[in-house]
Amino acid sequence: MAKEKGARSRRFEGGLAPDAVDVNASIDFDYRLLPHDVAGSIAHAKMLAKQGIIPSEDAAAIESGLRAVEAELAAGELSWDPALEDVHMNVEAHLSQRIGDAGRRLHTGRSRNDQVATDLRLYARSQAEELIGLIDGLRLALVSLADKHVDDFLPGYTHLQRAQPVRLAHHLMAYNEMLLRDRGRIFDARKRAGECPLGSGALAATTFPLDREHVAAALGFDGVTHNSLDAVGDRDFAVELIAAIALCQVHLSRLGEELVLWLSQEFRFATLGHSYCSGSSIMPQKVNPDLAELIRGKAGRVIGDWVTLMTVLKGLPMAYNKDLQESQEPLFDAVETLRGSLKVATGMIENLEFDTARTREAVDSGYLVATEVADYLVSKGLPFRKAHDIAGALVATAIAEGCELAALPLASFRAESELFDDEIYEWLKVDRAVDRRDIVGGPARTRILAEIQRAQAELAERVV
Ligand code: ARG
Repeated sequence: MAKEKGARSRRFEGGLAPDAVDVNASIDFDYRLLPHDVAGSIAHAKMLAKQGIIPSEDAAAIESGLRAVEAELAAGELSWDPALEDVHMNVEAHLSQRIGDAGRRLHTGRSRNDQVATDLRLYARSQAEELIGLIDGLRLALVSLADKHVDDFLPGYTHLQRAQPVRLAHHLMAYNEMLLRDRGRIFDARKRAGECPLGSGALAATTFPLDREHVAAALGFDGVTHNSLDAVGDRDFAVELIAAIALCQVHLSRLGEELVLWLSQEFRFATLGHSYCSGSSIMPQKVNPDLAELIRGKAGRVIGDWVTLMTVLKGLPMAYNKDLQESQEPLFDAVETLRGSLKVATGMIENLEFDTARTREAVDSGYLVATEVADYLVSKGLPFRKAHDIAGALVATAIAEGCELAALPLASFRAESELFDDEIYEWLKVDRAVDRRDIVGGPARTRILAEIQRAQAELAERVV
């Protein structure tokens, strides 16, 4: 059987220059669209038959032929041909080789421009769903770890200086909040890719009486696009998804950074299962947190993906332009990078062991309860600014004495203010200091338990 020539009809004299084939072809990366391309084609073919545009036997042959081609391409039994440029022409060529003219009817009332615009939206929607599931998996791991550490303490930091004590659970739950917002942003981006472009044709729709709503519903879209030029010419849905992905990766990079700190010999707050660490090729004693570093480092490339896509889109005239083929790799890269990072981050959180004696030691030194001294004086009627000054003086005294505030004798407190009595020592206890922060969003035990319960209940429902 003659080889299918794809988009190069007899209008063309000869083939594309060999170097041009390499630059023109997208098959090396758009093979990822295979399942979506096949689903889109099946929906299109069935609708063509329903509308009486092609015979129903042809639609049936197209459907079974496409399923066979998809399976064989995925299994490597059929090969991709770069001369056919992309996933769309490769699939169609294999289909026509297999079923003859029925296959050659598939492209009626359609262009690769509305085809790829549809495939990419289907890809974005399905990947967004998968990422949301993975984000929820990481949140579950964080919330479970928080649940285990409600009664353990960690220094809270500002400027990476020990600031005030918090519950370890409170710190972990901060990431749940970030990830919950990331989930929401990805969910919203998925919604924006909810209109089906099929029927937009190359740019000016089609003369065939297509049932666009039928195709959109069959593919799980919320509706159809309303301007054919816009539908084939923009990739803003991908920009939004990459932006949401980049922000999630930035949040993961913060987690990665904290893991690097906690696992360092300087902090020694935690240890990590060796399945997430690497050795050094020269220093045998090293156990390096490579995966945490890579999650941190990969934020750079995902931010780059967003910049790449924005730059591709900037200044494109209406409607479709081949530049848009360059929108695919940043999208694939962002999705795949976040997917891998979420899985690894979840594994690391599940394998993280805190040294809670060590974190407690860190909480107990460095005057983290100095604010309590000021708050105590405020409770006795002193204006906060004066109280803050007295507390500062007492910290200076404690530093001079080489001890913590709670080790100072009452006489030292009273030398600064008559308002002090023995009660101050109660105020300086870490759990009391934390539990006085009994306000929504605060680290008090009851507040943390409520937040953990809220997150657990929400995760148990998990609806996309
Ligand atoms: N591979 C192409 C892309 O990703 C498909 C559309 C090609 N359209 C065209 N008019 N050459 O954009």
